[in-house]
This record gives sequence, structure tokens and C-alpha cells, in this order.
Amino acid sequence: MDKSEKIAFTLSGLLLVVFFGAIMYAAVAKDIDVPTCITDMDPFERDTLFQTGPDTYELQMVARMWAFQPSTVRLPVGSKVDLYLTSQDIIHGFKIEEHNVNLMAIPGAINYLRVNFNKPGEFLFACHEFCGAAHHTMAGRFIIEEGLDEPETEEDI
Ligand code: CUA
Repeated sequence: MDKSEKIAFTLSGLLLVVFFGAIMYAAVAKDIDVPTCITDMDPFERDTLFQTGPDTYELQMVARMWAFQPSTVRLPVGSKVDLYLTSQDIIHGFKIEEHNVNLMAIPGAINYLRVNFNKPGEFLFACHEFCGAAHHTMAGRFIIEEGLDEPETEEDI
């Protein structure tokens, strides 16, 4: 093997190790999840929020032109939310400020991500995929409160 080939070969191998290390660092040390497409669940038509454990909730969210259902979600600080997202019509986006969440809402499919709400505040979520005339109005909010007993959702802000 030529010397330059050996160098290129070694560098390629090193790059693979660096990339794999970066992925493992993000997954383990930084606890970053990638969105998952759920294939063993039928797309739902209505939104639902229910408690699944002491700090865990399941939120099924529906996107449509031009709103999210629910549009307001109230949860206690420390909630871990299993978020399932689908769309009733066309493709929408979904992003929660300050929470490193970026999902697509796709008709006929469900996307999933676990979201941890560790600090109190109001966090806007919005559609980030252009979806028509009122795309800019397609938003809602998570309200995270200390000592909240009854988590709830609302349909309109
Ligand atoms: Cu929905 Cu933009």
C-alpha cells in the first residue's frame, strides 16, 4: 500500500472513531434523544394527557391547520412527558423553546420524544414548517408550575 493511501486509510478510521464517540457522548453524557417514528400505534384523532407514574405523563398531541390540540398544557415542575405527535392534514413542525425538541407532525404517522420539564416558566411551542396562510398563528405553550396538583390542557390560548 502506498504511503499516502495508508495515511488516508488511517485518517478515515480515526474520523469514524471520532464521529461514533460524539454520538455516544450526546446520547449518554448529554442525554440527547433522537425523535422516534412509532409504527405499532394507530394515529389518534383527539389529544389526550394522562399520568403514567409519579412524575411521568403521556401527551398525545394533534397538529392541524392551523392549531395544535391542546394549545396550552399545564404541568408541574419535574414532569417527564412522553410526547406523541401526529397531524390531521398536512405536514407541520413542532419546536419547544429552551427544550431541544424538534419534531415533525406527519399525517398517518406518529413521532415520539420524551421531554423533561425541569424548570418553571412558560415555554412557547410553534410550528416551524410552512403550512399555509395561517402558519404564523400555529403555536401554543407549556406552563410549568411549582406545586401544581392537577395537570390540565386547554384547546385555545
Ligand atoms: Cu403548521 Cu406551519
